[in-house]
Amino acid sequence: MGPTILITGASGFIGGAITDQLIDRATIRSLTSHPHKNRFAARVRSFPYDFDQPARMAEAFRGVDVFVNSYYVRFNYGDETFELAVDRTRDLIAQAQAAGVRKIVHVSVSNADERSDLPYYSNKGRIERLVRDSGVDYTILRPALVVGRGDILVNNIAFFLRHLPVFTIFGRGDYRAQPMDVDAFAAVAVDAIGGDHHGQTVPVAGPDDWTFRDMVRAIRAAVGSRALIVHAPAVVALVGLKVAGLFLGDVVLTSDEVKGLTREYLYAEQPLRRGAGFAEWLAGDGVASALGRRYESELARHFRQ
Ligand SMILES: NC(=O)c1ccc[n+]([C@@H]2O[C@H](COP(=O)([O-])OP(=O)(O)OC[C@H]3O[C@@H](n4cnc5c(N)ncnc54)[C@H](OP(=O)(O)O)[C@@H]3O)[C@@H](O)[C@H]2O)c1
Repeated sequence: MGPTILITGASGFIGGAITDQLIDRATIRSLTSHPHKNRFAARVRSFPYDFDQPARMAEAFRGVDVFVNSYYVRFNYGDETFELAVDRTRDLIAQAQAAGVRKIVHVSVSNADERSDLPYYSNKGRIERLVRDSGVDYTILRPALVVGRGDILVNNIAFFLRHLPVFTIFGRGDYRAQPMDVDAFAAVAVDAIGGDHHGQTVPVAGPDDWTFRDMVRAIRAAVGSRALIVHAPAVVALVGLKVAGLFLGDVVLTSDEVKGLTREYLYAEQPLRRGAGFAEWLAGDGVASALGRRYESELARHFRQ
């Protein structure tokens, strides 16, 4: 039925939203560390990542028309590093090349740049080069901040606003960010899978730009929080986040992520704009009532099996 699409994490946040839109018109496969967590059951066949023996992933790629790659790590933790994620992506691209995959749709990030001093962005830049040099047709999509069911950052801002009397913003909070609804992002990815944005690197965003301060205020209002919003230097706020991380058993936010946010890495000039605005998304059916009810842990999701 239709083309065969292999998606990294087809039950994950972005991969899941893409799968939702394609499930009735394509054969979807998933590459994942959690083959048992397959919310599409028999409709999506799951294959495990095997980076020790990449050739064992050949079966996942056999007969695939388009490979949608979002494989990456949020921060270095234990043996999982950005450098390793680059090496692993090289293995995935080699499998796609060997299988004769027609196109790679790659999920990168706004302002990916090999010259950046922030490893998240420099290694994303290195991966983009691997994709461009692969000889396979490609589209690279660069979202800044994707929001929707299953996202971590906005959910956890809401969690802290709901559960703490005070919420600390790094510095003035006037740095800009470009939230984009996950379904709108998935729709752009689906267009790219269908052949749009051939050989292009495309920054993508929602319809409007936000300052971080205004995003926090909007989330606070949406979830009915009465937390006091205060401003503190990033180093001070990071100490608070470290303590929260100890209680929650997670890395809430890294100092590099704070640098990325405050230096406006989550903002791009002239992105392709799609979907509903952040305020509209927050006002959507059931969104605010569910947001931040429980903490979403990156370590539980990805680093603890
Ligand atoms: N979420 C955002 O706001 C946002 C913004 C800009 C760019 N991006 C980019 O979008 C892509 C997808 O993001 P997402 O939030 O949808 O991610 P995700 O579904 O949680 O992860 C995408 C894939 O990477 C794998 N993965 C992630 N962390 C891993 C780890 N520590 N160890 C092993 N495998 C790991 C996942 O494995 P499993 O299938 O086993 O879960 C999944 O197959 C990423 O490349 C990210 O950099 C996201």
